Amino acid sequence: MTGDAAPAPDTGVEELRTARLLLRRPGPEDLDAIFALHTDPEACAHNPSDLLETRKDAELLLLRWSHQWNRYGFGYWTVRPHGSAETLGFCGVKIVGFRHRAVLNLFYRFFPSSWGAGYAGEAATAVVGWARVHRPDDLVIARVRPENVASQRVALRAGLVRAAHLDSPGDDGTDWFYVSKGAGEG
Ligand SMILES: CC(C)(COP(=O)(O)OP(=O)(O)OC[C@H]1O[C@@H](n2cnc3c(N)ncnc32)[C@H](O)[C@@H]1OP(=O)(O)O)[C@@H](O)C(=O)NCCC(=O)NCCS
Repeated sequence: MTGDAAPAPDTGVEELRTARLLLRRPGPEDLDAIFALHTDPEACAHNPSDLLETRKDAELLLLRWSHQWNRYGFGYWTVRPHGSAETLGFCGVKIVGFRHRAVLNLFYRFFPSSWGAGYAGEAATAVVGWARVHRPDDLVIARVRPENVASQRVALRAGLVRAAHLDSPGDDGTDWFYVSKGAGEG
């Protein structure tokens, strides 16, 4: 442990497993993948504000992800196939303020080489399932650009439902909203 970082609350979720995937808490060993993914124009085509320029930017992004883990005991996971060192992408939730309440914002971004195999849907389903069990009172939201059909499909596959009445401007233009069922929208 370095500095004043608090130990992560013991939520037992530093790893999640699905049929094909292992999701685990990111660390310094993931820096190359974080940098590569967030400098890939195709992987950020719908959300160009997420593009990074320098490795230092990637280090800061990992630091923010790690702070979330340290503070809340969950965050974004690194996604790999079982028994493989290949990082497919990242998927998880982070706490954000939305309409005067804290909600869980669902994130997923995968390397284009892995697209179309159902990996994002599988990972996002596991993450939303985790949230339903461990954070049952929290609304899960996904904000998706209207042109990003693949991402919309992933949100639905993970069990979220379209909430058009919440659509609002985001960093890259209008965001379509998808939300979890049952947690209430406040
Ligand atoms: C969105 C993204 C994560 C999807 O990854 P993926 O691994 O290809 O997704 P899956 O293979 O699990 O497919 C999920 C669904 O999307 C559909 N889909 C995948 N690519 C699609 C495309 N280009 N057009 C339409 N539907 C598509 C699949 O058929 C599947 O549909 P189903 O659930 O009805 O069977 C991936 O495209 C990505 O990383 N994009 C860049 C980052 C991004 O946009 N993140 C979301 C920001 S809101």
